[in-house]
Amino acid sequence: MIYNNHILLTYNNIYRAVDKCGRMIPVPYNSIVCAAAGGGAREPLFRNPSSSASVYLLQFNCNRRRINTNNRRNNNNNFMDSNNNMRTESYLRHVDSRKLMPNGAGHIPHLKAVILGEALASEEDDLVLPSKEFSDQANVHSPEQYMEMYKRSIEDPDGFWSEIASQFYWKQKWGEKVCDENFDVRDGKIKIEWFKGGITNVCYNCLDRNIEAGLGDKVALYWEGNEPGLDGSLTYSQLLNQVCQVANYLKDIGVKKGDAVIVYLPMINELPITMLACARIGAVHSVVFAGFSAESLAQRITDCKPKAVITCNAVRRGTKPILLKDIVDAAINDSAKDGVSVDVCLVYDNPVALKREDTKWTQGRDIWWQDVIPKYPSTCPVEWVDAEDPLFLLYTSGSTGKPKGVLHTAGGYMVYTATTFKYAFDYKPSDIYWCTADCGWITGHSYVTYGPLLNGATVLVYEGVIYFKTEIYCNLFICMMELEKMNPTDFEIELISLSIGSLVDAKKFKAIISRRQKLSPGLSVIKAPNYPDAGRCWDIVDKYKVSIFYTAPTLVRSLMRDGEAVRYLYALMFTVYLCAIDLRINAFGFWIRYVTRYSRKSLRVLGSVGEPINPSAWRWFYNVVGDSRCPISDTWWQTETGGFMITPLPGAWAQKPGSATFPFFGIQPVIVDEKGVEIDGECSGYLCIKKSWPGAFRTLYGDHERYETTYFKPFAGYYFSGDGCRRDKDGYHWLTGRVDDVINVSGHRIGTAEVESALVSHPQCAEAAVVGVEHEVKGQGIYAFVTLVDSVPYSEDLRKDLILTVRKQIGAFAAPDKIHWAPGLPKTRSGKIMRRILRKIASRQLDELGDTSTLADPNVVKQLIEFSDS
Ligand code: WTA
Repeated sequence: MIYNNHILLTYNNIYRAVDKCGRMIPVPYNSIVCAAAGGGAREPLFRNPSSSASVYLLQFNCNRRRINTNNRRNNNNNFMDSNNNMRTESYLRHVDSRKLMPNGAGHIPHLKAVILGEALASEEDDLVLPSKEFSDQANVHSPEQYMEMYKRSIEDPDGFWSEIASQFYWKQKWGEKVCDENFDVRDGKIKIEWFKGGITNVCYNCLDRNIEAGLGDKVALYWEGNEPGLDGSLTYSQLLNQVCQVANYLKDIGVKKGDAVIVYLPMINELPITMLACARIGAVHSVVFAGFSAESLAQRITDCKPKAVITCNAVRRGTKPILLKDIVDAAINDSAKDGVSVDVCLVYDNPVALKREDTKWTQGRDIWWQDVIPKYPSTCPVEWVDAEDPLFLLYTSGSTGKPKGVLHTAGGYMVYTATTFKYAFDYKPSDIYWCTADCGWITGHSYVTYGPLLNGATVLVYEGVIYFKTEIYCNLFICMMELEKMNPTDFEIELISLSIGSLVDAKKFKAIISRRQKLSPGLSVIKAPNYPDAGRCWDIVDKYKVSIFYTAPTLVRSLMRDGEAVRYLYALMFTVYLCAIDLRINAFGFWIRYVTRYSRKSLRVLGSVGEPINPSAWRWFYNVVGDSRCPISDTWWQTETGGFMITPLPGAWAQKPGSATFPFFGIQPVIVDEKGVEIDGECSGYLCIKKSWPGAFRTLYGDHERYETTYFKPFAGYYFSGDGCRRDKDGYHWLTGRVDDVINVSGHRIGTAEVESALVSHPQCAEAAVVGVEHEVKGQGIYAFVTLVDSVPYSEDLRKDLILTVRKQIGAFAAPDKIHWAPGLPKTRSGKIMRRILRKIASRQLDELGDTSTLADPNVVKQLIEFSDS
């Protein structure tokens, strides 16, 4: 398809080029096409005066099929009118292209393909339908089937849930009532009980039951280490044996039903093994994410007074060893000061990260996992528990400094996580499932461990860090290495440096190249901080043939960001190639395509959790990662809810990029105003839930009063989620972020997530975090921290452009008062942005930044302060 040497770089979305006759020319993602003959439509993309050839670009919103549910939408979305003429109004967009194009392209400022129409598209009207093949095989394959099941779950919850619960093993069936609840503080103490009187065991249902059903030899856990090549697997039978050994050990040291055990382990198989071992003997595990500081760990130890702490001597994150045992020692010392002593500390020996002899040791308290666990028998009788006995405690942060111990019980949680997993991911027994969450968070509890194993699924556990931080120089470094191997001429280096000059300092680049060449002419090993590179995720997907991939928007955006830089480079390299410099240079382009150089054919369902996924990240995930083939389950839920609450059922209905869509079975979401009055139809407000569901948390450990005050008193009669939500005209739910993150500017309520989403839709913005600051006139002003796509320089023009984007997308009232350049954002290791710190930086209260030790990269704060006045 090379005509006239005109280049069009497609970017972010799938586009269609259209010729004069309305024939569509598909333009694959991230490709470079050249101008094709055409003409006649209103605004040609390229025009070649010598041949009068032009090409038109039509944004065809993500290669999706559209649903035609009403005439209005039908009219809007058809790009051909009744006379078969192309309707260009809302689809044809301009694309900037290369400055020095070969003849005919005219003046185009620089190599920048605009994300066409992203800012203009009305997300509400974007419907992405699952393919017919997908729907046909899905567990729920149509809106009608969903409606029928949903209706039953609301009208007859007892019947609906007891039918599902009967598929599990119960030593004794539950009593008269399937559900017994008081959901209204005005009627007394809040109480939620499901399947009370039913006797069961969650570990038994995850392992023994599945083995009896013939899954003994099926792989339960694959484990992939941080270091490529380090891996392992456990079948259901092997997993049961190991769980029993740990359970026997715990019993031996005196852990009994109802006792707490703190687990501070990294993502190794021993983490889910320990959780299941606790569940087997009725002990209550409290997993603390192994990224928390000693102080936070001590707080949790003091609160739940565990019989034992289970940890690991050290772990590698990227190339860096983290001495977990030292942190545990400090925490145990701290909690001893508060009168809580820990008698046993079981330590898993991880020689890859730290030698045994280098591990600090307290005789009499500390014991090596490998020295004791293998000695215990690999069978262990089950401790049968009541459905309402506690299964685990998981601490989560609240508005005060004291963490909240969210308590989940056995029966309801088991039934709910298993059911949500099955339907929201359209689970099939042949699936290989990978959730990138750490077991230290609720997602790792419900959707790494319990939900999938209850379904007999094969789960991939990945030890490594998946939140990448890449610098353009890292990419350049990689190119450079390749270049070195190719032994380019000075002229070639000169040319590439010139091309890259618009992105980075060309002099610096040339200097690095010549320095590298001098230092190590034969160097062929490439190591980059995103270990070993940003393609690792997809390498793993291909290696294990992962079919369901569940992750967080922050990961999607950071991978997308790497991709952006790559695309710039790719395009530049390709241009150089087109200029017939050297065919070999094109190899770079291929080499650095982090996503597309992997097959990813095994993927069939994608998932997102943790925060609203902005539409452009959604599209990238859908188009690039999922090849426009895999539905995305954007699952809205919370530590407190135990499982998915609002989520797409992938085969059942059309999705809208950025919307969590509709409620799961049994869930009645309502949107209320400030006074707690339910609002119907299209509206925005506070998201609450009417009536309980089996996976709901039952209390905050040791503080039922706080449970009621935080969740049930704000809007009597409802569970208050703390999130804002908009329901559109079609009934789709759009989460707008925590309401505590709402900014009130001149009386306008603005969700920080909305402003962030608008900012991120700008092609040069990789990530944004918005906070409110005091403003003399408006009450609150909008303060935006913006991370740019790698290599894009900071400039006043760009600042204005970003503000304009928000004005355009939300309205003038939402325009940020300040754009603060942020080379990185302060995130916890789980990827959550710590807005508390951003608020302090924004209001210049630098002496009140508080504890920054739980940040993935505490240096970010220093950088942000340095950029304060730039
Ligand atoms: C946010 C994580 C929008 C929300 C499972 C919620 C989301 C908080 C989504 C709970 C989503 C989670 N879309 N927002 N799909 N998923 N959230 O307890 O603000 O760590 O209240 O549980 O994350 O966070 P938590």
